[in-house]
Amino acid sequence: MTPPVKPWITKLPTYEPGRPLEDVARELGLSGIDDIIKLASNENALGPSPLAVEAMRTEAARMHLYPDGGAYSLRNALASKLDVEPAQILPGNGSNELIELLGHVFLSAGDSIVMSERAFVIYKLMALLFNADTVSVPMRDFTHDLDAMLEAVTPETRLIFIANPNNPTGTRVTPDALERFMERVPSHVLTVIDEAYVELLAPDEQPDTLRYIREGRSVCVLRTFSKAYGLAGLRVGYAVGAPDLINTLNRARQPFNVNYMAQAAAMAALEDEAHVEATRRLVREGLDQITAALDDAGIGYVPSCVNFLLVHVGNGREVFEALQRAHVIVRPMDGYGLPEYVRVTVGTQAENEKFLKALIGVLQAV
Ligand SMILES: Cc1ncc(COP(=O)(O)O)c(C=O)c1O
Repeated sequence: MTPPVKPWITKLPTYEPGRPLEDVARELGLSGIDDIIKLASNENALGPSPLAVEAMRTEAARMHLYPDGGAYSLRNALASKLDVEPAQILPGNGSNELIELLGHVFLSAGDSIVMSERAFVIYKLMALLFNADTVSVPMRDFTHDLDAMLEAVTPETRLIFIANPNNPTGTRVTPDALERFMERVPSHVLTVIDEAYVELLAPDEQPDTLRYIREGRSVCVLRTFSKAYGLAGLRVGYAVGAPDLINTLNRARQPFNVNYMAQAAAMAALEDEAHVEATRRLVREGLDQITAALDDAGIGYVPSCVNFLLVHVGNGREVFEALQRAHVIVRPMDGYGLPEYVRVTVGTQAENEKFLKALIGVLQAV
């Protein structure tokens, strides 16, 4: 016998991540993973920055020590890069942890979040974890409808999530739409702008959302080292916000939430602008390669500004499974209410080629 579980916890769905290479290899009866490609979790096809790998090697010999729980050096490095105070930054165990900390701090039964219907599903799962409600607002042309999201705000709304660019649609809101939203959003709400993919945009296309924080608005910006910086396996992201907000989130975190290797690698990656630039180039070229082939084959897709795109395949779950049998892992989208799509991450040129060949073969066979 165990004590009764909180009733809403018993109903929590489990998150369906991109399938690990090892799982799929086991299922297909393969002896190793070398013949399979994973284009399912929007990881960086270039890998981690070599500077980050070097920093991890150096750190390895210190793994008997607890990390600096306050992440002093990483906070300072981020603060000087972003032109904010260290007290305005909180590193987390991936930005997923920071999303959960926002829930710990702001959400209880009766509270609600507002999000876009086809935005990152973790926001909704996190609201469920705290027994809070989710108001899901339909998109317009696969893009956040910020006017409609504002209309969905009620006195119970605590957090509004804007994923920009958005996963899984690969779209972004215009600076004008965001500005209009920021002018009208009520002050009792915290606007969380999730910029997990923002560094994949050309520097002159990256929205200056930290400005809202400098202006003292009720805004929290989330970023991660998992995407453009290629460190998804290490789990490191960060929140930027007002010192009061950061201080509150800081109280709710685990004492050593970001490990030493992650802190060291993140700092090294932050310095490696050339790697980020090479990543952007790979993504642009990969998007061109994939969309040109899809156009040629008459396969529909949602135009994307980041390292993944939604491809219109008919029965997404079946195509996902058939691609897996062809050793290509993508992501089915029925969980996002997009059963006719799969989401594919931009890989290396050879990986994109393998995906396209397999996809065209699968679609010809149905
Ligand atoms: C929009 C968005 N936000 C946050 C995350 C979480 O990233 P991480 O926890 O790896 O920092 C992801 C990961 O896919 C994402 O797509």
